Amino acid sequence: MLKGKRISIVGGGTMGRALAGGLLKSGKVETGQLVASARSRNTAERLAADLGIVCTTDSAEAVRGSDIAILCVKPKDVQKAVETLKGKGALDHRPLLISIAAGISTAFIEERAPEGVPVVRAMPNTPCFIGKGMTVVSKGIHANDEHTALAREIFSTMGRTLELEEKHMDTVTGLSASGPAFIYVIIEALADGGVMRGLPRSVALELASQMTLGAAEMILTTGRHPAALKDDVTTPAGCTIAGILALEDGRIRSVLARGVETAARVAGDLGK
Ligand SMILES: NC(=O)c1ccc[n+]([C@@H]2O[C@H](COP(=O)([O-])OP(=O)(O)OC[C@H]3O[C@@H](n4cnc5c(N)ncnc54)[C@H](OP(=O)(O)O)[C@@H]3O)[C@@H](O)[C@H]2O)c1
Repeated sequence: MLKGKRISIVGGGTMGRALAGGLLKSGKVETGQLVASARSRNTAERLAADLGIVCTTDSAEAVRGSDIAILCVKPKDVQKAVETLKGKGALDHRPLLISIAAGISTAFIEERAPEGVPVVRAMPNTPCFIGKGMTVVSKGIHANDEHTALAREIFSTMGRTLELEEKHMDTVTGLSASGPAFIYVIIEALADGGVMRGLPRSVALELASQMTLGAAEMILTTGRHPAALKDDVTTPAGCTIAGILALEDGRIRSVLARGVETAARVAGDLGK
């Protein structure tokens, strides 16, 4: 699907670099198909040297020759980036425009791009860096199923993908994009429990991390409800149910759910 497609990445920062690296590593895209841009010469030169792709400080030049342009700039920089591309005629050929900016709607971009440019919004997360990411895509009014399929093909080089209606995107941001940070806090806290009981810190962290990985894989590979899997582990009068009751005393469920809800609300405010 990506064969022969020319792809530009506007904003070669943390996410842009991960995306370019993932695409190249997957073998679905060759270096000649990929071009990136950054604001400063320093970032552009570093990216070009590290990945062996063309990287320029002129985003219009990068996008003009591409079939797909992926906007990887900060939310506050999206407006200027799109208006500059439009002003320089770089979107006149109506490339597929994919934005990963949190809180920025497809409508916001469509209003600033030339009429008819297909826009797809995507929300990846940082585990994309190691090919274990989760990316959700949704289409704007000028994008069709082929466009979302192309976007999913791009992000599938870095993990799982899913398509949802755009009304869910801020919630997706609060859950799967902010979520890794929530899990890091939980893993650190679980390890603290092990350290309190005398485990060396490195051992406690390894146990907590591998256990988290395994538990998540159990849900994804068996398709069973987490409550049923939890019931499997809780022997009557056993240690696990004792630990769960202590967690419930601390209102762990509502604390985590409210964390996602709050992050989603703030994500929605980023574009305002
Ligand atoms: N980090 C995450 O977990 C995550 C997850 C999902 C989505 N996102 C989204 O990903 C986007 C990028 O985040 P990030 O963490 O990668 O930010 P970042 O590291 O700051 O990278 C942004 C890049 O954009 C470049 N830039 C700014 N304005 C530009 C312009 N007009 N033309 C070309 N390049 C321009 C900057 O260049 P210079 O380096 O030269 O200044 C920088 O390299 C954000 O919108 C964020 O919401 C992030």
